[in-house]
Amino acid sequence: MDFLNLIEDIDHPKPYVSGTHIMWTDNYISSFLLEAHLDPEIGAASRSFSDIDKTIKKIESLVKPEARILDLGCGPGLYTERLSQNGYDVTGVDFSKRSINYAQEQAAEKNLNITYIIDDYLNLDFNNQFDLVMMIYCDFGVLLPDDRTKMIKNIKCALKPGGIFLFDSINREAVETMSFTTSWELTEKGFYSPMPYLLLSSSHHFPDHKAILDQHVIIQEDNNPKVYRFWNHYFEKEDISNLFMENGFTHFETVQSLLSGEGPYNDNSVVFYVIHR
Ligand SMILES: C[S@@+](CC[C@H](N)C(=O)[O-])C[C@H]1O[C@@H](n2cnc3c(N)ncnc32)[C@H](O)[C@@H]1O
Repeated sequence: MDFLNLIEDIDHPKPYVSGTHIMWTDNYISSFLLEAHLDPEIGAASRSFSDIDKTIKKIESLVKPEARILDLGCGPGLYTERLSQNGYDVTGVDFSKRSINYAQEQAAEKNLNITYIIDDYLNLDFNNQFDLVMMIYCDFGVLLPDDRTKMIKNIKCALKPGGIFLFDSINREAVETMSFTTSWELTEKGFYSPMPYLLLSSSHHFPDHKAILDQHVIIQEDNNPKVYRFWNHYFEKEDISNLFMENGFTHFETVQSLLSGEGPYNDNSVVFYVIHR
């Protein structure tokens, strides 16, 4: 293990440096994630059912039943199912096989006609097909700037003229309530591995990029550290205006009061954006 490099890498991560591993698609970790998505008491991967229902109601106010909806990062289908049950024609995309397999089983059991695609949502090339594209649970902010630009162009292409992109993201207030700390944990078996590991975690703020980073380094007997990095961005209205209006969208509204949870992802800290093509 190159210890000096590891120290530099962990202590002073550079803007937008990526991790060595991805959490969502890991075969072991994804079973914990699926449990977290499905447990309404655990807000870490999906929101509570009552908050999900509020978002569904908002969507119903934006597009009529039978409209075509694309859910990017649909997870195990908590939104897609509800929307399909309410008469929408729904497509869900996620690169987690475990989540999509679960979503497909549920759809078959409930006799719902939902299209599910296992893919990286950055690879999509839909054309003029959807009335509404959604990306829920602050996933838009996770995209790094180049991917974000690509995604905005892809979404514009996927939407019909007049279509809507609905997403949520954290705001500056969320970041003001966060503390940027370091911590460690030694465990015989846990979220990241069934084998013993030392976990070094830290969080960082990059004000020039309006970005935050949560990083987790897993050190195991094989001396091959695994690094998981989670970037997120906070936006202000003018950032959203610049990002979307420059890419051919026409106007947008913000929506609040859709969340009731505690912590940094509550109603004061998360804004929903309705962007019109
Ligand atoms: C925070 S979860 C939210 C899931 C769902 N939207 C919800 O609120 O219940 C993020 C989801 O996005 C998926 N995801 C992350 N990056 C992705 C990518 N590049 N392509 C496809 N899916 C991705 C993850 O697998 C995960 O299911």
